[in-house]
Order: sequence, then C-alpha cells, then structure tokens
Amino acid sequence: MNLDEQARDILRKNDKGGYTLPTHGLYPYQWNWDSAFAAWGFTTFDPDRGWTELETLLSGQWNDGMVPHILFHRPDPGYFPGPDVWQGRGPIASSGISQPPVAASFMAKMLAMDPAGEARARAMWPKLHAWHRWFMQWRLDEGAVCVTHPWEAGRDNAPDWDGAMKAINADDVGEYTRRDTSHVDPAMRPTKYDYDRYLKLVQIGASVNWDQAKLRAINPFRVADPTMTFTLLRAQRDMVDMGRRFGEDVSEIEDWIKVLEAGAETLWNPDIQGYDSRGVHAGTFNGVLSNASALCWYAGLNDARALPAIRRMIDAATYALASFDPEAEGFEPLRYWRGPTWPIMNYLVGSGMEEQGIDALGARIKSDTALLMQQNGFAEYYNPHDGTPAGGGTFTWTAAVWLGWAGRNLEDKRGAA
Ligand code: DGY
Repeated sequence: MNLDEQARDILRKNDKGGYTLPTHGLYPYQWNWDSAFAAWGFTTFDPDRGWTELETLLSGQWNDGMVPHILFHRPDPGYFPGPDVWQGRGPIASSGISQPPVAASFMAKMLAMDPAGEARARAMWPKLHAWHRWFMQWRLDEGAVCVTHPWEAGRDNAPDWDGAMKAINADDVGEYTRRDTSHVDPAMRPTKYDYDRYLKLVQIGASVNWDQAKLRAINPFRVADPTMTFTLLRAQRDMVDMGRRFGEDVSEIEDWIKVLEAGAETLWNPDIQGYDSRGVHAGTFNGVLSNASALCWYAGLNDARALPAIRRMIDAATYALASFDPEAEGFEPLRYWRGPTWPIMNYLVGSGMEEQGIDALGARIKSDTALLMQQNGFAEYYNPHDGTPAGGGTFTWTAAVWLGWAGRNLEDKRGAA
C-alpha cells in the first residue's frame, strides 16, 4: 500500500461508526480536536463521512455551549479516567472540560473541498457560535483564552503548566490505576506527579458539577495559553467568513476578534521574544517557547517579531517543529509535549506560515512532517532529533495531516529555509 492508501486505511479502521478513535487502545473514545482533524481527513476521500464526524462531535454539546474534550460513547475499561470520574452533564457521557476549538476552521476547509455539504455546515454554524461564546464568557483573562486543566490545551504535560501544577495539593487524590502506561512506554507519557494533579483537577470540577462560576472561584489552575488563544482567534475569523456566506449576523464575532487580538498581545513575552503562556493566579509568564508559540501565523497575525526564535528552534533539531525549545533546560525528546514533534501542530503552524507568506519555513515544516511519516509511519509524535516514532501508532490525526497537507505536492524543501 502507498502512504495515501495506508492513511485512508487508518481512518477507516479507527472509525467506530459516526466517530473516529484517535487510536485503538490508548484513546478508545471520541476526542474533540482529534475528531476535527479526522473530519478533514475523511473529507479528502469520503466527504459524507467527514461531515458526520463533526455532527457527532457537536451532538455532545452541553446546554451552556461547551463542547467536551472527550465523548464516552461506549464504555471501555482500557481508559482512565472514565465517565464515572468525570461526571459530565451533557447529553452524552463526557469529560467536563473542552479542547482547542479547531472544528470551525476545519469546517471551513471542508466546505471549500465539498460545497455540496453547505446545508450541513449551516446547521452546525450556530452550535459552533455557541461554543465559542462559552470560551468568551468563561475563559478570558485580559482577552487571552485560559485553560482550566492541562488537558484542555491538548498539550497535557507541556512545561507551560509546571508553575501552576506546583500550586496544586494532590495529597488526597486517592488510589487509582493509570491505563495509558499499559499501552505506551511510560517514558513517553506524563509522570505520576502530573497524573495526580490531572486527577485532582477533575475531582475539583466534578465537586461543583462543572458549574463554571463556582469552578472559577475554586480552581487553582488557570493559565492563559497561546494554543487556545490562537486557535480561537483563527476559528472566529473562519466563522465570520462562513457566517457572511450563510447570511448570519457576524458583528458579535467581529468584536470578539478584536478582544482576542488584544489578548494575544498580552501573551508576548519580550524576555523570550515569543508568545508565552501566563499563569493567571501567579500573574507571571512561564518563559516557555513551544510549538504553540508559533501558532500566531495560523491565527492571522503576521508577526515578524516571532520569527527569529521559532527559526532558531527549528534549526536546533533535525525535524521541525519540537513541542518545546530543544535548547531549553528540561527538554525531553520523547516525552509527549516536552520535546517531541507533533504532525498536527506542524500542520497548524506550517499552513499558517504558508498563508502568511513565510513560504520557505512553512515548506520546511511541511516536508519534515512528510519525511517523518515516510520514514516512520503514522505515529502520534516523533523524536525531533532522530525521528523515532513515539506514543500511539496508526494515529488518526497524523494520517489526516498526511492526506490533507503533508502528503500533497511533495517537494523536499529541507535546504530552502
Ligand atoms: C490522555 O488521556 O492522555 C488525554 O490526552 C487526555 O485528554
């Protein structure tokens, strides 16, 4: 099988009928942003199935507009923490937090690929609007979007959270059994220290039935984050474009865009010459240059200030773009979000650069991403120094990135940047 066929095969095999698993074993449910990537991947060869993926995701939307980060469609003992721990309160058993809102941006791409799906996109637009309003209502700090759990950013164990995690007392978290480390080498996963705190935050949220007003008062973890701020900013721009086409009133969203642009500026940390996360309780930057710092172009901000540090990060490893600065203390090339390169982030960053005319660097990220998959298959993430595949295998969103971007118009641009 060639790589296109392999990638399509992965999507089909991870398809549970209406929703797609990120990978069998490690992640046996529907994850929010994984699902948006899956929808786009399916649209490259089966648009009907692509639209269905987004519809299933939005069928789990809560009354307050939130779209959960996991939908537990069918019980699976192979994952922890499951629905009994989360105690979500939506129409489908779910977690109680959200995830980077990339679904609207993928919907815009899908509409361009399959204009016949317009009626389905129109029906989803108000739901996405309500979800985005939930972020604007509950997650802003000085206009930047905050996460209330490291899993909300999708970058679970990124060094960004270290300071805020220290402030969490997890002594009373109780006994539990992790399942992730029975599927994947523990050296590639977050530590027990991290997991105790992940779980403690879930217990805190469940203790107030995920009431956002109450949670805001008691949650020790609140970090303004470039992943959320930039993906929401991009999503709002795509919502305006689609809304105009559908004859919707987009004035509220245009106002949100201004708020988020101002918020993004509060994440600029001159000390690292990059966009950084900011601890809201501590009131300080975290000093972390990551692949999320490079999402500014994807958000439509063509920021020349940000380029030198990101270029240095790329030059510091063999394969663009490490999830954490390879020259920073604490860089770990195989441990999840503390170093490995992730095709999905490479797509968001690289395609954003291409859109903003940062052509050579965008092309470099794209051809590195393609090379990783050609040499090492469709892994969850890879060691940025030698390309070792890590985490889960036969990964849905990695296959989608191949089908939608990395595997298209292949050219070796490694020398060009
Ligand atoms: C996990 O279980 O590792 C997930 O990333 C949580 O979303």
